[in-house]
Amino acid sequence: MNYIIDGRTMKAADHYTIETIGIPSLVLMERAALQVVETVKKEKIDITRSLIVCGSGNNGGDGIAVGRLLLEKGAKVTVVLAGNPDHCTEEAKEQIRIFQAIGGTVEREIPQESYTAVFDALFGIGLSRKVEGRYAGILERMNEMEAAKVAVDIPSGIDSSTGEVLGTAFQADLTVTFAYLKTGMALFPGALYAGNVQVRDIGIYLRGGVEGPRYLSYEREDIKTLCPKRGADAHKGTYGRVLMITGSEGMAGAAILSASAAYRMGSGLVRILTPRCNQAVLQAKLPEVIVTPYKEEISRQMETLLDWADVICAGCGLGMDERTKEVLETLLIYLENHEKPCVLDADALNNIAGMEQKKREMLLSGAGSRLIFTPHVKEFARLLGKTTEETKKSRMGLAQQYAKTYNIILAAKDARTVVAGKGKIPYLNLSGNSAMAKAGSGDVLAGMITGCLALGMERFEAAAFGVFVHGLCGDEARDRYGAHSVLATDLIEMTPIVLREIH
Ligand code: ACO
Repeated sequence: MNYIIDGRTMKAADHYTIETIGIPSLVLMERAALQVVETVKKEKIDITRSLIVCGSGNNGGDGIAVGRLLLEKGAKVTVVLAGNPDHCTEEAKEQIRIFQAIGGTVEREIPQESYTAVFDALFGIGLSRKVEGRYAGILERMNEMEAAKVAVDIPSGIDSSTGEVLGTAFQADLTVTFAYLKTGMALFPGALYAGNVQVRDIGIYLRGGVEGPRYLSYEREDIKTLCPKRGADAHKGTYGRVLMITGSEGMAGAAILSASAAYRMGSGLVRILTPRCNQAVLQAKLPEVIVTPYKEEISRQMETLLDWADVICAGCGLGMDERTKEVLETLLIYLENHEKPCVLDADALNNIAGMEQKKREMLLSGAGSRLIFTPHVKEFARLLGKTTEETKKSRMGLAQQYAKTYNIILAAKDARTVVAGKGKIPYLNLSGNSAMAKAGSGDVLAGMITGCLALGMERFEAAAFGVFVHGLCGDEARDRYGAHSVLATDLIEMTPIVLREIH
C-alpha cells in the first residue's frame, strides 16, 4: 500500500523535509542523483556516452549531480544547461560549481554527437506553464535521439498533478521518480510518457503539516493483508447471502457475469431476482445460483428477499422500465431503515439519474450510507447533470464531492478508476489495461465488489479492493489472450489465479 501524490503535495513534503526536519536540500539532491544512477544500472542502461539536459530549477540541479556521478563511473558525460544560467537556483548553481571542480564542463547547446543514454532534467514538478520555443525544440530533439531515454523525477512537459501534456513532453523509457508516484504519471496521458516508472526513496517526510492531495494505491503483495482469510469452520452463510437484482429481457448475460464474479470472489450464496424469461438460461448456466423470478406483487416480494439478504447488488442489465423504477424505489426506501451494504451499477444509476430531483435527494440522503455506486464517466455525468467532457476533466474532484454529499462510496470508473468516500483518502487504481474496455467488464466489477462485501469488508475497502483485483484479472487475461481478445468472462476465470496470492 502506498501513496500517490500530486506536485503540490510533493513540494510541500520537500519543503517540510528541508525546513522543519532539517535535511539540507543538497543532501536530498545527492540521494536523488544516487538513486537515478543506481536504477539506471539495475535497468542495464548503457551510460557510456550520456547526455544530461538540465533546466535552471532544482530538477536541473538533480541532473547535474547525476552527471557528476556518471563521470565518476567513467562515462563520457555531456551536461547541457538549457535553462537560463542567471535564473539558476542556489542549489543548481552549487551543483554546477561542484561538477566543474571535478573537471566537468557545462554546455549551453546540445553537441551534435551520438549518445547511448539521454537524461531529461529540464523541468520537474516545478513546471508551471506550457513548454514552448527553445525548450520545446530541445525536447523534440531529445525525443528523436536513438538512445535510452531517462526522465529525472517526471518527464518534462507533463503536469505533475493532472498528467496533461503542457505543449511538448519528453518521451521516457524509464522515469526515476522520488519518494512517491506523482498523479501526473499515474493518469493518462502522462503515464504514456513516463515509460517504466521506478519510485525511489530519498528520505522525504510526508507527514506533520504537509497539505495537499494524495491517493492510496495497492500493489499485488497487498492482497495478502487486504483480503480476509476464510475461516476453517466457515459455512455458506458465513460469507454472505447475496441478492442480485439484475438482468432484463435480452440481458441475462449481465446477470450471469455479475453473479459468477460475486461467487468467484468468495460469496457463500447468491440469489438472482430477474424476469421469468431469464430463469431457464440462468439456471442452466449457473447451477450454484438460486433464481427467483419477479412476482406481480413486487413490493411484498422485495421486502421478503431483502430481509433474507446480507448484501445486495442491483443494476447490471436491469433496464429502464416501470417495474425497474418500482424495484429501485423499494430498495432505497428499505435501505434507509436497514443497515445492509448495496452496490448500484449501470441501469440502477441511470434510473436514479432520471428521478425527479427532490425524490432522488430524499432517497439518497436516506440510503446513502449503505451504498456503493460504480458509474463509468457517462453514467457519472448523468448523475451529476453535467456533460461527459466536464465530468471526465474533473472526475477525481467530483467523485470526492459526490461521495461526501450523500455519504456514498463512489467508484468512478475510467482507465484509472478512483474510489472516493467521505473522510477517506481516495484510492487511485493502477491495475488493469485497455483489453478490459469490453462489454460486460462493468458487470464483473459490480459482482466482484459485491463479493468483497459478502466477505465482510467495509464499503470503501470492498470497492477499492474489488477494483484492484478486477484490474489484476484484466492484466492476467491480457497476458494470456492478448490485448484484443479478452472477454469479460476471462476476468472471472482469472480471479482464482489473482487470489492465489492470499495463500
Ligand atoms: N518554460 C520555461 N521555464 C519553466 C516552465 C516552462 N514551461 N515551467 C517552469 N519553468 C521554470 C520556472 O522558472 C521555474 O522556476 P520558478 O520557481 O522560478 O518559476 C522552474 O522552471 C522550475 O523548475 P523545476 O526544476 O521543475 O522545479 P523546482 O526547482 O521546484 O525543483 C524538484 C523540482 C524539487 C527538484 C522536484 O522535482 C523534486 O522533488 N525532486 C526530488 C527531490 C529533490 O531533489 N529535492 C531537493 C531539491 S532542493 C529544494 O527543493 C530546495
